[in-house]
Order: sequence, then structure tokens, then C-alpha cells
Amino acid sequence: MSTSGPNSQSPIRLFPPGFLWGAATASYQIEGATTEDGRGPSIWDTFSRQPGAVWNGDTGDVACDHYHRMEEDLDLLGELGVTAYRFSVAWPRIQPTGKGPANQRGLDFYHRLVDGLRARRIEPTLTLYHWDLPQALEDEGGWCVRDTAERFAEYVDIVARALGSDVERWITLNEPWCSSWLGYGAGQHAPGVRDIGKAAAANHHLLLAHGMAVPILRSAVPGAKVGITLNLGDERPGSEHELDVAAAERADGNLNRLFLEPVFHGRYPEDMLAHYAKADPGFSVVREGDLALISQPLDFLGVNYYFPSTVVDESRATEARLAGYFVAPIEMFPDLHVRSLETPGRDKTAMDWEIQASGLTSLLVRIRDEYTTLPIYITENGAAFDDYVDPNGRVLDANRVAYLQEHISAVHDALDAGVNVQGYFVWSLLDNFEWSFGYSRRFGIVWVDFPTGTRLTKQSYHWYRDTIRANSVEYATSIGSS
Ligand code: FCB
Repeated sequence: MSTSGPNSQSPIRLFPPGFLWGAATASYQIEGATTEDGRGPSIWDTFSRQPGAVWNGDTGDVACDHYHRMEEDLDLLGELGVTAYRFSVAWPRIQPTGKGPANQRGLDFYHRLVDGLRARRIEPTLTLYHWDLPQALEDEGGWCVRDTAERFAEYVDIVARALGSDVERWITLNEPWCSSWLGYGAGQHAPGVRDIGKAAAANHHLLLAHGMAVPILRSAVPGAKVGITLNLGDERPGSEHELDVAAAERADGNLNRLFLEPVFHGRYPEDMLAHYAKADPGFSVVREGDLALISQPLDFLGVNYYFPSTVVDESRATEARLAGYFVAPIEMFPDLHVRSLETPGRDKTAMDWEIQASGLTSLLVRIRDEYTTLPIYITENGAAFDDYVDPNGRVLDANRVAYLQEHISAVHDALDAGVNVQGYFVWSLLDNFEWSFGYSRRFGIVWVDFPTGTRLTKQSYHWYRDTIRANSVEYATSIGSS
């Protein structure tokens, strides 16, 4: 729904000069070529082969075949006009077993990518870990053991020395909440473990790995801009009932505060430590000095935002149903006794994620108020819809255009509120392997015909290109915004 903004005559909102416009992808979701040039297996190669783990038994074996089509994808980025591209390096391409000397052919691939970006004046924004842990390290305990953080530090050193000053921004981890709580808690992601004590330990070891990486990046790449990307949410109680308010506080603690507090305040939230006190090994793995390492100064924060969330206490699910809510059958937070609600009448994406752009604005304002005034990049935002190629050979994804327009407007609202947002990366450049949903969910602004690998730009690609060129957005708010 396009409406003009509340405080302006003109619906056109300009972004500050130098605002970064980007697109994002991740190695396992697009590269394919999983056995080529010395790459070792990752936990996603293993997990995707477990019966029932991924929709349709899909794997990343071929994915978008980006490994062989890199030039074409670079051209798509060039024509789009982005000023930055966020990609991730596959650790098992660099160290096939997660330790030992670098695999030069793996490094060469990323050298070519970075050179191709530079040639097109696109700033490389490199994520060091977007979930493809070498399987050999998982066999030794994965993120549940401290040693994996040490191995990560060695891997970071190799990549930083090899790609060094050619890379503009370094993101240590993508969404450590997903790696720990979905990977080791809910078991929906690789490695598919369901153990709260392990999830909590993984949470800490991932943050420790981040902390260890920061000084390594700073010494290997003088002037490096270093940050971390967190998936954060706006967790709201479904009612004013004290049990629901407490449930929202627990959801917020798990999703947001377990990451924001250690990174920016050097401590874990007391309520969460108490909640997970009996988890084994849980947060007992924290050692003296770890939190000082985890909370070192950064240069930016990456925020991934997709949807808002409304929750109630488990005991009040029936009440919520009677009030007209749909109560999600699958629980996002194992062991928190929280149930997620779907607000009646609110638009959803093909992921069943509710659309509410104002949640992004309030989240950004809260980060500024409670955690940091560092530059913030929206390192991921986008939507899956049931796209199709029409008889004229076009993908007219007006719903994605509306989603992007609303969320970019919400970013502008945050700027108006004085939040230091300096860039926005759309997820994703390409339709790709959407983790446990396989190829059934399309997030791209470029359509990929998976059997042939053919690319086709969607309406949203052209809309985003025009937005970048104009450095402005026609202001829009989502239906049901509050
Ligand atoms: C995020 C992931 C990204 C993609 C989007 C839809 O959680 O970081 O890889 O799958 O969700």
C-alpha cells in the first residue's frame, strides 16, 4: 500500500549520499560444485542427505551453479548498480577438513570474485561463516566444543591474509542464533541436533569465535572494517497478560539479548543464564576473559530482518485461539514455553512470515537506544513469494516490490529517527537453496531455472535498480503497520 509519509508533502524519500545499496548471497546456497577443486564436505552436505531433513531431498550440490557462472552473476550485479555485494566464503573450500594448510584453488575462486567486484566498482562485503562448517570439525564436536572457535581463528587468518585490503567489510558470522539454536537446539538446520545444553554451548563458542577473529582481522588487514551479522526480531506479547509479557521477554532474551548483550555490553543476560542454568553443558563453558574478547569494539553491526513476531505463554495458547489468532504448530524456541501467533488478516510471504515493516524501524531504534550507535547495515532483508515465469517470459513479482518498498521506507523512518543506518542489502540476488526448504522458496530478485541454471531478472530487480539510481524510495507503509 503506497501512502505518502506522515510528515512530508512528497512521497519521495532521499537517502544520504554514500548510502550503501547491496545484494547478498551465501556460499552453500548458490555455489554448487561441492566436490570441485579440493572442497571438503560441510555439515550442510551431510544434513541435506538425511531423509526428511530438507524439502524434496534437495541439496546444494549444484544450487545456482554460481561456481561456474560467476562472471554472469558479476554482470548481473554490475547492471543492477549495487555499490556493495555481500557473499560468504565456504570454509571447506579453504580448509577441506577445517584445519591445516590453505587450499589454494579455493582461495583462487574468491580472488577472482573479489577482483571481478572491484573491476565493477562494487565493494566486497565478506562473510566468513554462513553456516557451512567443515564436516570434519562437526565430527569432533562442532560448535559445542571450544576447539572449533580456535580452528575458526586459524581459518580467518588465512582468508584475511589472502584477500586482505581488497575486501571492504568483514563480517565474522552470519546469524549465530540460527547456527546454535536451529542447528543444535531445534534440529531444523545442520547438524540437526536437538539438545538445549549443546545449543547454549554453541551459542557461546560461536560468539567466542567471533571474538577471536576480530584482532586477527585487525592485524592482518590494517584499516579493516569488522562487524557481525545478527538476526534480530521485534518480539511482542500477544496481550498485556503478565504471562504473555514474560513470554515475549524470554523470546527476546533468546533471539536478541543472548547476542546483543555479550557483543555490546560484555555480559550474558541474567534471566537467560538463570533459564538455562540446568542445561548441560550450557553456559558453563564460558571461561574467564571470554566476554572481554567477545565485546571488543567493532566498526559496524549487520542486522538481518524479515518478520515481526507475536508470542504468548504456552499455557495461554487456547486463550489466544479464542481471541482469533492462529497459533503456530511448530515452536521457534524449544524449551522457552512460548507459542508464536499469527495476527489475523496480516499479509504473509511464502515462508508464512508476517509482513510488518514497522518492526524493522522499532528494532533499529531500540538497538541505538540500548546497544550501539555504530553504523548499522541491513545485511539481509527480502521475501519469498510463489513467483512464476508468465507466458510473455517475465516474472512480475509485484508483491516482492511492495515488500522491498515498505522495508526500505522503514529504513528511512529509522534514519529520520536518527539511527545511524548506512546501507541495505537485499536478500537475495538469486533464487537459491533455502536451507531446509530446499529450492521450494524463491527469495531472488533474479529468477533461476534450476534444471538449466538460466537466470532471468524479475520485476523487483528492475525496481531495485531504479531505486539505487535515484538513491530514494517512494514512501510506503505495510497494511496493518503499527
Ligand atoms: C536468513 C539466512 C539466509 C536466508 C534468509 C532467508 O536467516 O541468513 O541465508 O536463508 O534467512
